[in-house]
Amino acid sequence: MYVQNASVPDRKPVTVPGLLAMKAQGRRIVMLTAYDASFAWQLEAAGVDIALVGDSLGMVIQGHASTLPVTLEHMVYHTAAVARGLSATMLVADLPFMADRDVAHALEAGARLVGEAGAAMVKIEGAAPHILEATAALTARAIPVCAHLGLTPQSVHKFGGFRIQGREQAAADRVLAEALAVQAAGADLLVMEGVPVELGQRVTAALKIPVIGIGAGPHCDGQVLVIHDLLGITPGKRPKFSKDFLAGHDSVGAAIAAYTEDVRSGAFPAPEHCFN
Ligand code: KIV
Repeated sequence: MYVQNASVPDRKPVTVPGLLAMKAQGRRIVMLTAYDASFAWQLEAAGVDIALVGDSLGMVIQGHASTLPVTLEHMVYHTAAVARGLSATMLVADLPFMADRDVAHALEAGARLVGEAGAAMVKIEGAAPHILEATAALTARAIPVCAHLGLTPQSVHKFGGFRIQGREQAAADRVLAEALAVQAAGADLLVMEGVPVELGQRVTAALKIPVIGIGAGPHCDGQVLVIHDLLGITPGKRPKFSKDFLAGHDSVGAAIAAYTEDVRSGAFPAPEHCFN
C-alpha cells in the first residue's frame, strides 16, 4: 500500500504565471504524459513540471491505432486518477476528438476535466475558427488552454498518416500564423509536434507563451514525451523524436529523472531526435 506522495520533497506548485516566468528566465519546462496515479507519483518525485493526460492513451493504454476512439469519459477517468498522484506538478488534460466541435461542447468538456477531474489546463488541437472560438471561451471562463499545432494526431486521416508538418516554406508560414492566432485567442501554452527544427525555433522566438516541443527541435521552451516512448515499451519502431531513457537506468523513477535532467540541461533532444 502506498502513502500518497510520501517521498516527494517540498516543491512550489507549477502555475500558469510560473510557466511564463520560466520562459522569460530561459528555464526549460519538462512535460511528460501520465495516465494513472502510480506513474503520476513517479513524475511528481522526479520534479516534472507538467503531467499531460494525453489522448495518446487511446494508443498506449487502449491499443487503438489512433487517438480518435478516446471519449470524454475516458479522459475524465484517467485525469482524475493522475490528479490523485500529483501535488506540485501541473496537470493538463486533452480534449478528445470532437469534444471541441463547438463552444458549448468545449466548455462542457473543460468544466468536467477541470472541475470534476482536477486538471489545471486543457489541451486543444488545431487553429480552425471554431478552435480559436473555443480557446477564447474557455480562457474567458478562467480555464487555461494549451494549444497543439503541427502534427496534430486527431487529424491523422486528413494528413494521410502521422506525417511531419511544415516542411515547405508556405506550410511553415501557415503554422507560424496559426501559433500567433492561438496565442491571440488566449492560449497559455503551445505544444508543437512533428515539425522541422527551424520552424520550432521560429515559433518559439515569435511567441510570448511557452512552446513545448515533441519532435520540434531543441530550441523550444520545453519538451514533452509519451511516457511509454521514454520507457522504450512502445511496440514497433521507436519514434525518431523519442529516446529510451530506461536503457542504462535501473528503475522507472531513474529514467524519468534522467529525462527531466536532460531536458533541463538541453541535452535532449539531440540532433538524432530532430527533423530538418
Ligand atoms: O496525446 C498526447 O500524449 C499528446 C502528446 C504527444 C503531446 O498530445
